[in-house]
Amino acid sequence: MIKLTQQKSSVLKLFQKKNIPFLLRTFATVEDTPNRIHGGLKDQDRIFQNLYLKNSKACGTEPWDVKSAMKIGDWYKTKEIILKGDKWIIDEMKKSGLRGRGGAGFPSGLKWSFMNPPGWEKNIGPRYLVVNADEGEPGTCKDREIIRKEPHKLIEGCVVAGRAMNATAAYIYIRGEFYNEAVVLQKAINEAYEAGFLGPNACGSGYSFDVYIHRGMGAYVCGEETALIESLEGKAGKPRLKPPFPAGVGLFGRPSTVTNVETVAVAPTILRRGGSWFASFGRERNSGTKLFCISGHVNEPCTVEEEMSIPLKELLEKHCGSITGGGWDNLLAVIPGGSSTPILNMEACNKVLMDYDDLRDAGSGLGTAAVIVFNKQADVIRGIQRLSAFYKHESCGQCTPCREGSTYMSKMMDRFYSGQANEKEIDMAIELTKKVEGHSICALGEAFAWPVQGLVRSFKPLMIERINEYKAANGIEQMEHGGWLESGKVANGKVVSNPIPKTAFHGHH
Ligand SMILES: Cc1cc2nc3c(=O)[nH]c(=O)nc-3n(C[C@H](O)[C@H](O)[C@H](O)COP(=O)(O)O)c2cc1C
Ligand code: SF4
Repeated sequence: MIKLTQQKSSVLKLFQKKNIPFLLRTFATVEDTPNRIHGGLKDQDRIFQNLYLKNSKACGTEPWDVKSAMKIGDWYKTKEIILKGDKWIIDEMKKSGLRGRGGAGFPSGLKWSFMNPPGWEKNIGPRYLVVNADEGEPGTCKDREIIRKEPHKLIEGCVVAGRAMNATAAYIYIRGEFYNEAVVLQKAINEAYEAGFLGPNACGSGYSFDVYIHRGMGAYVCGEETALIESLEGKAGKPRLKPPFPAGVGLFGRPSTVTNVETVAVAPTILRRGGSWFASFGRERNSGTKLFCISGHVNEPCTVEEEMSIPLKELLEKHCGSITGGGWDNLLAVIPGGSSTPILNMEACNKVLMDYDDLRDAGSGLGTAAVIVFNKQADVIRGIQRLSAFYKHESCGQCTPCREGSTYMSKMMDRFYSGQANEKEIDMAIELTKKVEGHSICALGEAFAWPVQGLVRSFKPLMIERINEYKAANGIEQMEHGGWLESGKVANGKVVSNPIPKTAFHGHH
């Protein structure tokens, strides 16, 4: 409702005479427009119908069985989709508003179109769709569920995405630890070949398309698209500088596009039901349904398909049986999109919507939609300390800011956890993260910076409290930078006396 100031209607005059504030609703009034609450996705709108093995069990088969997959709509009219051609598929994907499910949220239709610049046909030779099944982001457990339970959605997705990009083959790069998943996927690929869905005349359409699996060795950085390409080529998985982008020079020097398992697996259903069907879910620019993976202090951790823009609170209350140890009021914090997205405190969690824009506005991100929950009994500093150690371990070491910064940050986080730090070092930690952001070859630099920034933004008082507790427990009045005391002694480059207990240093707890 807004106050009316211009209209001189008789009603207004009457209200003014009686000193009553006059309120009028106009088209520009936004505050009281009934907002649609997103969420509550119906079963018939779920793309992943076999996520909990319901269909396979009902059919008495395994998930790789092609006939049971066809019962839930896989491989239905794929030939017709292929025959509609690259432009139609890309236009429909653009209409759907699908944004990449690998973390960055780049619009998929647009990304796929980069493979077909004017005159692409003249560049004769192989062209690749590379499916990113590395799924290394801590907290994320959706791609492995797709591969285990719905492998045919992914394989069919490869065919239609491949057709859109005019690719000749797909490589599915799967994390080495996913042994069982690789076995399931290979069996499903074999079935698809036998059924004539893959090969020189895929689905009887005349389009020739092959799908190969490549198993990685379980390095987080190999999930980064250019590191993944290097690894596929048989080299060490170290990210490449961009440009050139993979769509220009990719796998084996040929045009390629790296895209996430979920992005590819949802494509056939979108193309069958129409881009506007998918776009009808979620808020504008954040459309579709999405797999959310929820872990940590909830009563029922799960991977569930829901509508985008569902309130975080509803997601946790409805699908996860709320927070352990006392329900919603026992919530302390949430990492909403996988370990590299900044942590949100209770106040933010109360109102945030699970989509790209709202989480960005709240100071975090949707990332891979891996929701990690902390209850009030948890130690958030310990949580972020653990993540810092992870990123330090996973840095490939090519860029100095990332290699040195992640090592230094991990050591600082060790000391923040035990409280063995100077309060000013909290600001220094933030300064360090700002020096790394945007100064590294790949986004792992940001990935180690953001969790620490989120911790300081939401829990600085707790960090200060920890430092004061440490000082009180050890009878220390002033802590120097680096957890060093003035009374500590060094001789010939070696510490000969440091009053701070050794157990407080990193690596000892
Ligand atoms: C360090 C690092 C690790 C990544 N790991 C993954 C991963 O495991 N899976 C994934 O799909 N994307 C990962 N990405 C993002 C990919 O580089 C790429 O953006 C994504 O696969 C694109 O797919 P999409 O367009 O479908 O989102 C990672 C990025 C970085 C910087
Ligand atoms: S940012 Fe880190 S992981 Fe990425 S290329 Fe540089 S050193 Fe390697």
